[in-house]
Amino acid sequence: MSSATPNAQSQEKAEGDDFVPKIIVFCCNWCSYAGADLAGVSRLQMPPHFRVIRVMCSARVDPEFVLRAIQKGADGVLVAGCHPADCHYIGGNYRTRRRIALLRMLLQQFGYDPDRLRLEWISAGEGEKFQKTMVDFTKTIEEIGASPMRGGD
Ligand code: FES
Repeated sequence: MSSATPNAQSQEKAEGDDFVPKIIVFCCNWCSYAGADLAGVSRLQMPPHFRVIRVMCSARVDPEFVLRAIQKGADGVLVAGCHPADCHYIGGNYRTRRRIALLRMLLQQFGYDPDRLRLEWISAGEGEKFQKTMVDFTKTIEEIGASPMRGGD
């Protein structure tokens, strides 16, 4: 059994094959999902390697959802919510901010690059920000490499 850290394992695994990242995006219903929709209807060019999961608020993203996504082989997880003070559930996104910071620390403790998890504030009118975030996050994940939790796909 290899004693390499998960990051080293992922780099080994990513070498030599065409790495297609799998990215899960949790979007809050009121802002970020509408921003993602705007990016789509505006026909902004985005990498095709992500799946959006709509939640009512970014605070609805239980830490277990993120860990489950990683366990199931997601290479990156993005949580997107309303800008601070714009959350439709008053302080939901402030909770999200604290939660994501803790989750990133937890990931690092387990040897994962914390940059596999990102939080962004994206409003309903920021289709372009959603598009740029997806381009940039996909590039980050491509640089980090495949998750060591991926099956043999
Ligand atoms: Fe969007 Fe709470 S409703 S972050």
